[in-house]
Amino acid sequence: MRIHLIGIGSGHPDHVTAQAVARLNEVEVFLVADKGEAVGDLAQIRTEILRRHVRGEYRVISVPDPERDRTPRDYGAAVADWHDARARAYEKVLLGLDADETVGFLVWGDPALYDSTIRVIERVRDFGTLDFDFDVTPGISSVAMLAAAHRLVLNRVGGPIVITTGRALPGDVLAGADNIVVMLDGGLACRELVGTGRWGIHWGANLGTDDEQLVAGPLDEVIGEIERVRAALKAQHGWVMDTYLLRSSAE
Ligand SMILES: C[S@@+](CC[C@H](N)C(=O)[O-])C[C@H]1O[C@@H](n2cnc3c(N)ncnc32)[C@H](O)[C@@H]1O
Repeated sequence: MRIHLIGIGSGHPDHVTAQAVARLNEVEVFLVADKGEAVGDLAQIRTEILRRHVRGEYRVISVPDPERDRTPRDYGAAVADWHDARARAYEKVLLGLDADETVGFLVWGDPALYDSTIRVIERVRDFGTLDFDFDVTPGISSVAMLAAAHRLVLNRVGGPIVITTGRALPGDVLAGADNIVVMLDGGLACRELVGTGRWGIHWGANLGTDDEQLVAGPLDEVIGEIERVRAALKAQHGWVMDTYLLRSSAE
């Protein structure tokens, strides 16, 4: 069995690379995590990508995503449990396929950035019940989308950049990070930095989709607008995905 993990970009069917299209066209069975109604629009984007880029026949098997504890005491252990449950769910489906089939996983953005698919597939391999090899095709990440939409170079000349989550942001700022991309932020963790007069923000939501929204400026001045735009997107779709660059103004 051959498994392709294919980065499909972060929201627009045009952002699927030529390499990804070639891989998509080798796949006979796509396994898609079914995350329920809330992300129906995202499922539609995936369907559109397949419709637009795949010429031959293929099957799509949707695999119900296991429940995840969103408020765990031990975050690391909860994520490991969830990866395990996901790996078992994929293993079950893969065991039901022919041994010579080519299987594809569509991975949002780039598989190397805040995505569990590589880890989960490694876990399936470690179970030892299936014989397969897998490869990874990179995709255009939301970070690349954010930078392009704002016409930004993410690093200062020769400088570092920290890519982090909303949860980890306070610790990263305490540790001295001053050029930071924030992802996976359910509630604008940057609000904690408002009032210091120190930060600028380049914010982007639902990048690549028809409802893409961008806001940029001094954090203290634009946070209200970001909150409004974010809430409106959430009310409209039931979900919002945002990524932002925070840069300290002390250059
Ligand atoms: C599970 S991570 C997946 C990241 C993905 N692998 C990538 O390369 O961008 C989900 C986070 O990515 C960011 N994200 C993904 N798609 C986005 C989009 N279209 N617009 C803005 N942010 C997005 C958000 O920060 C979201 O919380």
